Amino acid sequence: MRYEKHHRRIEMTIKQAIFAGSCTNVAAKPARKLPEFAFIGRSNVGKSSLINLLCDNRKLAKTSSTPGKTQLINHFLINDRWYLVDLPGYGYARMSQEGRDRLRRMIEGYISQSEELVVLFVLVDCRHDIGKIDLDFIHRLGENGIPFAILFTKCDKLGPNALKAQIERDKELLLQDWEELPPMFTSSAQDGSGKKEILDYIEQYI
Ligand code: GTP
Ligand code: MG
Repeated sequence: MRYEKHHRRIEMTIKQAIFAGSCTNVAAKPARKLPEFAFIGRSNVGKSSLINLLCDNRKLAKTSSTPGKTQLINHFLINDRWYLVDLPGYGYARMSQEGRDRLRRMIEGYISQSEELVVLFVLVDCRHDIGKIDLDFIHRLGENGIPFAILFTKCDKLGPNALKAQIERDKELLLQDWEELPPMFTSSAQDGSGKKEILDYIEQYI
């Protein structure tokens, strides 16, 4: 935390967010190399909505109530200094096996090859136990040494006690595979909760 003269806390605020392009691989990403913070998780978990919440712009990343909306890697240039990266979701059951394999290669290729990626936020719907597909994905992040944090979405859908209990269960599931827990955040694109914590976390890296 940094302080100005009069002890006013300097907070990360997003003053400018600009769509910087779509790509399917690292070679085709925006030419300007800057720190990247990316969002991944099951299809429909709320990745694009969260990016819009952080940027205070509901129209920036396209959202949809039907899964499989984001099919490309989208870069958003923030404050002319860093990128938020919206990735396609994984594990969309209704997509063909071929389509799912293609997305998986796109996602895993990108996160293992992007030298600018600082942290990958893995989004998990707070209403359900963290799934095998998420745990397997996180396991591979560990194998590949990719820094990540877990971000629970749609927290407006649970009361405080139910949310706490669910997170405790997820921690136990994670501890079956991991010695230590990663950083964790709760959020709601609906009521705006978690926004400040997530931005403050990002701020320390830039
Ligand atoms: P794909 O791009 O298809 O992988 O989905 P996504 O993860 O980007 O999800 P998206 O942001 O498009 O949101 C999916 C649906 O969940 C939309 O109907 C959103 O309105 C809803 N949603 C997202 N975040 C929240 C939230 O925090 N609370 C509630 N109640 N609904 C949310
Ligand atoms: Mg999306």
